[in-house]
Amino acid sequence: MPGLTAPSDYCREPLRHPCLKINSKEPFNAEPPRSALISSYVTPVDLFYKRNHGPIPLVDDIDRYCVTIRGLIENSKDLFMEDVRKLPKYNVTATLQCAGNRRTAMCKTKTVRGVGWDVSALGNAIWGGAKLADVLELVGIPKNTSVTKSGRKHVEFVSIDKCKEEKGGPYKASIALSQATNPDADVLLAYEMNGEPLNRDHGYPLRVVVPGVIGARSVKWLDAINIIAEECQGFFMQKDYKMFPPSVDWDNINWDSRRPLIDFPVQCAICSLEDVDVIKPGKIKITGYAVSGGGRGIERVDVSVDGGKNWLEASRYQQTGIPYIADDMNCDKWAWVLFEVIVDVSHNAQIIAKAVDSAANVQPENVETIWNLRGVLNTSWHRVHVQIGHSNM
Ligand code: MTE
Repeated sequence: MPGLTAPSDYCREPLRHPCLKINSKEPFNAEPPRSALISSYVTPVDLFYKRNHGPIPLVDDIDRYCVTIRGLIENSKDLFMEDVRKLPKYNVTATLQCAGNRRTAMCKTKTVRGVGWDVSALGNAIWGGAKLADVLELVGIPKNTSVTKSGRKHVEFVSIDKCKEEKGGPYKASIALSQATNPDADVLLAYEMNGEPLNRDHGYPLRVVVPGVIGARSVKWLDAINIIAEECQGFFMQKDYKMFPPSVDWDNINWDSRRPLIDFPVQCAICSLEDVDVIKPGKIKITGYAVSGGGRGIERVDVSVDGGKNWLEASRYQQTGIPYIADDMNCDKWAWVLFEVIVDVSHNAQIIAKAVDSAANVQPENVETIWNLRGVLNTSWHRVHVQIGHSNM
């Protein structure tokens, strides 16, 4: 791991924004308040959720830092930062979302294992870097390759952080070679976030960003890229971040029976209200985010103030004041849309939001039907309760 150090304790953690709600201190896992998410289309770096499985690595010598690309390929390569910077630079606006987003709400049905998260384990950033498809060409793998001559079908990303789930070893994950070599999949080796060099929390000096895919595959503090035959056998691919049916519990789980999660399903959440909020009777503006995975845009967001009997369609936007037009050339397929709608609330109510993506996938109505023991992918209708009373809203 030239140039990078992986501390084994939490003595050298970076400073963080005091607004973040800390869900676990060591490793550091934190999310911004709901209202921070909707205050700007691009999430400020210091308010972006932080999801870690070990202490944050340190760069001790950026000139020596390199990523080793290896596996059964013609030319292995040590990729230095200057090599990455020489490749064409792309800015991709993409929402990164942890598969555990909204886990706390799933826990109310029945206990699940994992760090609790409200609705803010996601953020929308402009990631700047080189396309992985261009990087892989440097080692002789052409664009749009699904299997190499030697039968390799997957690309594994290995970090240097020390994770207890990996028995002190590094975090790792893989994606299909076909996705890695597809320039339209926009998989990046990113060195910038919102126009600034990545900071330590988010993977400095170099991280993978896999748009449209659960955050767990966007490996931070990249150390090596392996071209491999089968998908990565690491803990976070094989014994975590898989979705089981509600019938599976810890005494009958068979991890091998499920594939690792890759694309994120359609999701939305109301961010202008906490659960439960006290409001004045009358018109209120409901605001939130909606996003789907796999490059699918958002077709519609519906809001109900009567528990789901009647629905109003919310308006969607990516920049304040400019309406969102699905399939517009400027609309970004990997990024969230924000939504807003004015509703009239005269009595205590349950306000619900649900989104539909461009493939007509819709969020499930109830969390009970998608409950799973790891508490992943809670994409059920988002519900908040409001009480009528005296408030400053
Ligand atoms: N990469 C490494 N090396 N170590 C990690 O713990 N966490 C993953 C992913 N990449 C992780 C990692 C998970 S589960 C998520 S959701 C995202 O990083 C979070 O990225 P962020 O902290 O930049 O928001």
